[in-house]
Amino acid sequence: MENFDRIINRKATASVKWDMAESIFGERDLLPLWVADMDFEAPLPVKEALNKRVQHGIYGYSYPTTEVKSSITNWFKSRHSWSFSQDAILYSPGVVPSIATAIQSLTEKGDRILIQTPVYYPFFQLIQENDRKVVDCPLVIQNDQYHIDFDAFEECLKQGVKLFLFCSPHNPVGRVWTNEEQTKIADLCKAYNVIIISDEIHCDLVYSPHTHIPIAKANQDHVITLTAPSKTFNIAGLQSALMIIENQQLRVKIENSQKKQGFFTVNALGLVAMEAAYRDGAQWVDELLAYLEKNKKFVSSYLVQHLPNVKMIDAQGTFLLWLDFRETGFHEEEVNKRLLSKGKIALERGSKYGDAGAGFFRLNIGCSRDQLETAMHKMKQALQ
Ligand SMILES: Cc1ncc(COP(=O)(O)O)c(C=O)c1O
Repeated sequence: MENFDRIINRKATASVKWDMAESIFGERDLLPLWVADMDFEAPLPVKEALNKRVQHGIYGYSYPTTEVKSSITNWFKSRHSWSFSQDAILYSPGVVPSIATAIQSLTEKGDRILIQTPVYYPFFQLIQENDRKVVDCPLVIQNDQYHIDFDAFEECLKQGVKLFLFCSPHNPVGRVWTNEEQTKIADLCKAYNVIIISDEIHCDLVYSPHTHIPIAKANQDHVITLTAPSKTFNIAGLQSALMIIENQQLRVKIENSQKKQGFFTVNALGLVAMEAAYRDGAQWVDELLAYLEKNKKFVSSYLVQHLPNVKMIDAQGTFLLWLDFRETGFHEEEVNKRLLSKGKIALERGSKYGDAGAGFFRLNIGCSRDQLETAMHKMKQALQ
C-alpha cells in the first residue's frame, strides 16, 4: 500500500507550486494548495523505470515504442472501456500546447470557439492569444451542482462556432459528465458541424459511482481527445501528453501543424514514465482515489462544522475542490487577502476561471491529510 500520509519536502526542487508561491502571491511561508499537481511521490514502478533509464547515462532522442503505445491503448481499454488504434495517437509536450495546436490548425483568426466557464483559464487565454473569439456558455448551478443549459448551448452553436473546448472531467467544478449529457453534446456538435476538443486530462481521477466516459465514444469523427498520465500519476513535470484522434483527416491537420512548429517527439524520460505508469500503475491509482476521497470528505465535514458559510461543490472527479465563499459576507478580494496574509494558504481565486467563478476558490486536496487539516484550520482562522 502506498503511504500517502508521508510528507515529502518539495521546497528547493524548482517546484512551481512550492517555490514560486511567494513570488506569485506576494506572501512568505505560504502553504500552497493552488497549482494542480499533488504532493505525492509517483508510483514505485514509475520511479524504478525512471531510475533504470537515468542510470543508463545516455539521453539521446527517443520515440514512442510499440510498448509505450500498447501501455496507452491497454490502459484506456481496461480503465475506460475505450479502444482505439495505436495510429490514432499523437504526442505532445502537454495538453495546453495541444489545445493551442488544435486552435491554430483547425480555425482561422476571428473564428468563434465555445467554452463553458468557470473553466481552466488557458481555455480562454489561448483563444484570445490566437486572435480567435471566445463564445461562453457558462455552466449553471442547480441543486448545488453544475449543469449545462442545453438551450443556451445550442444558441451558442448557432453563432457559427468552429470548435468546442470541452473539459471532461471539468476543472474547476469537478463535474464528471454523464452519458446522457455527452450524447446531447456530441449530437449537437455534429448537427452544427463543430469539432469537440475534449480535454480529458483528469479522466482517471473520478469518484465512484461516477464514471468517466470519453466523449469520442459517442462521436469519434468530430472529437479530438487530449489527455496525459500527468495528473493521474503526478508526473506533470515530465511533460508528455497524448492526442487521440480517430478521424484521419483531423489527425493529418494536427500532424501538419506540429511539423510546422518543428515538433518531433517528446521527452525520453516522459515516455519511460508514461509506459510504466499505464502498464503498472493501476493499483496505485485505486489507492490514490481512496485517499483523495477521504480528503474530500474531510473538507466537506470540516466546512459544515467550522465554516458553514463556505459551501463545497461536491467534486465527482479531480483532486480540486471548488469552494463557494459568497455567503461569508466578504468579497473575493477580501477572502483572498485573508487567506494569504492571515491564513498563509494559497488557493486559486475563482475569478481567474472567468466571471462565473467570482466568489469561489479552488482548493487542491492532492496532499497529505495532515497538511490538509492544517490548511483548513488556517482557513478558519483567516475568516474569523
Ligand atoms: C483541464 C486541464 N487541462 C490541462 C492542464 C495542464 O496540462 P499540461 O500540463 O499537460 O499542459 C491542466 C492542469 O491543471 C488542467 O487542469
